[in-house]
Amino acid sequence: MSMHAEDDVIAPNSVERSPASSAVPAPVPAPAPNADRAVASRTRTFDTRRLSKDFADQGAFLYLEDFLAPEVTTQLVQSARGLLDEVNRNYLPGHKQGGSVSRHTIDGLAPFIAELYRSKELIGWLEQLSGDKLQVSPADDPHAYALYYYTRAGDHIGWHYDTSYYDGRRYTLLLGVIDESSCRLDYELHTRNPDVADQPGSVQIPPGGLVFFDGDKLRHRITPAGANEMRVSLTFEYVTDPNMRPWRRFISNMKDAIAYFGFRQVFRQMTKRRKDPA
Ligand SMILES: [Fe+2]
Repeated sequence: MSMHAEDDVIAPNSVERSPASSAVPAPVPAPAPNADRAVASRTRTFDTRRLSKDFADQGAFLYLEDFLAPEVTTQLVQSARGLLDEVNRNYLPGHKQGGSVSRHTIDGLAPFIAELYRSKELIGWLEQLSGDKLQVSPADDPHAYALYYYTRAGDHIGWHYDTSYYDGRRYTLLLGVIDESSCRLDYELHTRNPDVADQPGSVQIPPGGLVFFDGDKLRHRITPAGANEMRVSLTFEYVTDPNMRPWRRFISNMKDAIAYFGFRQVFRQMTKRRKDPA
């Protein structure tokens, strides 16, 4: 399937190309790789048993500087740049400023990301790391897979947890896509474990890098971007139990609408379901 439908549109015959325009061909988009094969090409080179121990020792947190296959990183960078016009900007004074593109937009315009999210190879490897049976998030959760953009001076997100509103645990997989910025992921390990001293850390995640953590256990933030900087990350959310109590669903939806994706994106799926229960 073509990633760029607009590339398939044939120019009308009446439009003549000048010699100058034909001399500068448009860049050819890289074809989407096979997600499972690309993930397996990397994970089979890792000592997953050791990484799983590191994950547990760090209180359900792991950072790998070089995780994605290069062809996957190339595809994600292409998608992130191609979706710039779709970014929903948000500003919550004192807490958050930045942009995001939800799964609903990604589904239509960057289907490779959805394929990567559902990759059995990827999910199986994350299960080995976490020791949990993981499931993809329900279809109406805009965080299931989303791109986060830090493109203006001051774009950041303050200290928080990726709180699970689900009945089970919520894991976050953060993949570096573009980093032309001074932004850092600052974090504190073990904050919810009274038996272990808090352990601060900070990483700058290059394209293709990975951070994987239990959202309720890692206190973290993204430090503010400077002028003329750009950072884009892709996050995948996996859960151990996709059920959610109705009042928690309401709180989660309101938070997402205000802080991340806008009301149209968050409630679109619900309205659609009501109109078409099938
Ligand atoms: Fe977060």
